[in-house]
Amino acid sequence: MKKKRIGLLTGGGDCPGLNAVIRAVTKSAIIHHDYDVVGIKDGYEGLVRRRTIRLNYERVSGILTQGGTILGTSNQCNPFRQPVVRRGRVTYRNDSAKAMKTIRSLGLDALVCIGGDGTLTIAGEFQRRGVNVVGVPKTIDNDVCGTDQTFGFDSAVGIVTEAIDRLHSTAQSHHRAMVVETMGRNAGWLALVAGIAGGGDILLIPELPFDWDRICERIRYRARLGKRFSLVVVSEGARPKGGRKVVHKHVDTSPDPIRLGGIGQLVGDEIERRTGVTTRVTVLGHVQRGGTPTPFDRVLATRFGAAAMALVAEKKFGLMVGLKGQKIVPVPLATATGRQRLVSKKCSLLEVARAVGTELGA
Ligand code: F6P
Repeated sequence: MKKKRIGLLTGGGDCPGLNAVIRAVTKSAIIHHDYDVVGIKDGYEGLVRRRTIRLNYERVSGILTQGGTILGTSNQCNPFRQPVVRRGRVTYRNDSAKAMKTIRSLGLDALVCIGGDGTLTIAGEFQRRGVNVVGVPKTIDNDVCGTDQTFGFDSAVGIVTEAIDRLHSTAQSHHRAMVVETMGRNAGWLALVAGIAGGGDILLIPELPFDWDRICERIRYRARLGKRFSLVVVSEGARPKGGRKVVHKHVDTSPDPIRLGGIGQLVGDEIERRTGVTTRVTVLGHVQRGGTPTPFDRVLATRFGAAAMALVAEKKFGLMVGLKGQKIVPVPLATATGRQRLVSKKCSLLEVARAVGTELGA
């Protein structure tokens, strides 16, 4: 009988813990289920262009602690709707037939897709075309529906918190307002959780458009209390009331054409102009996505990987693994994708932040 074979890909922006999932899927496939594992390179691009590597026990040994992904990733490829610029106009190409050909020619019995909402939504499209798909949710933004947490988030929270801690001492020495811009396009989890952990004075997230007067009043109030420094944590997707998100760049050739960035500088400039307090701005950027995963993320990623492989072995497809409380549960891809898990106005973390006097700008 032909040995069963799964394909494994990592799509979208990388995050700590991807390798831990690759290792968990591959090891449990080999040890417990007698499957062959094919790694698809660079996300869906590897499916379209048939770029693969064989994943065996040796190849995944020692990668648990490594950041990034040994398979490579890309957030530039959507096989169903790939933007192409011709004579200044954007049109869309459908490369899904090429991807389906790769899946057939590799003889894949199932495809495990590790990614955020974009990657998992595309995974759902393949499922609808008859491919046996299982998804694993990742992202430092923590904005995938159907799971209490994505892996990668805890590691990023650690990095942002450390940055806030380090900025704290220099802010205090120089009597400055320090603005830290974090990632988080639509969801403010990273700024909110790290901001609480780092004791930020003002936290600005995309879900709560902020009021300039409230922010500046908080800085003045702190000065009146004798606190001559302030820490302001801003998600890249935050915006003032009635204003827009700050776009750094439009990239027409990307399925995700808007690159955010610059709100931190805007907030810093405005605070300085309105309050007279000297301000400095730090943009953390991709530092937040790099490096080794925390122990929590290593364990979550390993649990997700083993659970994903178990679903494949049980022939349960069209599902994503998710964390619900302490348990790993299967979640239909159709209900988890196409929308994002945002910080709701009733989120208890907002109450906690307000309870300790943190200004949320709204
Ligand atoms: O991983 C999600 C994310 O971190 C967003 O918060 C951010 O806007 C985006 O990735 C940036 O990704 P890239 O620089 O890879 O386009």
